[in-house]
Amino acid sequence: MIPISIVGAGPGAIDLLTLRASDRIKNAEVLLWADSLVSPEIARLAPKDSEQIKTSSLTLEEIIPILIDRCKGGKRVVRLHDGDPCLYGALTEQICALADAGIEVEVVPGVSAYQATAATLKAELTIPGLVQTIVLTRAEGRTGKPQKENLENLASIGASLCIYLSARHVEEVEKTLLKYYSEDTPVAIGYRVSWEDQWINVVPLKKMASASRDRGLNRTTLYIISPTITSTGSRSKLYTPSHKHLFRPEKTINSNTQLDE
Ligand SMILES: C[S@@+](CC[C@H](N)C(=O)[O-])C[C@H]1O[C@@H](n2cnc3c(N)ncnc32)[C@H](O)[C@@H]1O
Repeated sequence: MIPISIVGAGPGAIDLLTLRASDRIKNAEVLLWADSLVSPEIARLAPKDSEQIKTSSLTLEEIIPILIDRCKGGKRVVRLHDGDPCLYGALTEQICALADAGIEVEVVPGVSAYQATAATLKAELTIPGLVQTIVLTRAEGRTGKPQKENLENLASIGASLCIYLSARHVEEVEKTLLKYYSEDTPVAIGYRVSWEDQWINVVPLKKMASASRDRGLNRTTLYIISPTITSTGSRSKLYTPSHKHLFRPEKTINSNTQLDE
């Protein structure tokens, strides 16, 4: 049996697909795709005669039998998720159910929403001396979270905080974050980043909720709370002349060595 490919489609734009993802989609005989978040343009890369199934209205109980049936029928099956499948992608439950049926999978990574948002803003989320940690999380919502991961605990670190799936809870999120970050901390709000109707704005934390509400955001929104977003930064050690490392060991200056090497 050919393993099922669980593929990350990236944030939306077709040219943010990896080459491997594009290859798997173009060779799919069966494509099950998360149509609420994946661009139809990407699904259209699949062969015209392939079987294409939208999954936004299906349950896991409906999706798994289709995957098993088509895979056991010898087809090349692709399960397409938005962003990177390892983040809020219902990956484990699908892999486990398929393993129970004796089916192998491969997972193809994708560009996640936080990466696309940071790239659009040309923002580094790990600036030396300022922030060296990124936290990827979500508001509790209906799914809930382990108690140790509550927003209070995560916010208290002061890291670059990327919050998924939380536009509907933005008032509550802002209120909690204001206890730990200054009210002027920049917040990037990214809606449908990399899609044609993308909207990205950077606002102070105290306006995170009102800016979201004014724009009517309730889905496909990613928040990044981080002092790095508007920082002019300090320089990293990596490219500092006095910092030696494996690829730039101490230079001995002799007649054969030039200083600008
Ligand atoms: C079910 S989760 C999947 C996340 C996805 N696996 C990833 O790595 O980006 C969906 C959430 O991801 C975020 N998201 C996905 N695509 C986005 C985009 N293009 N722009 C902004 N946020 C996005 C939003 O927070 C959305 O509610």
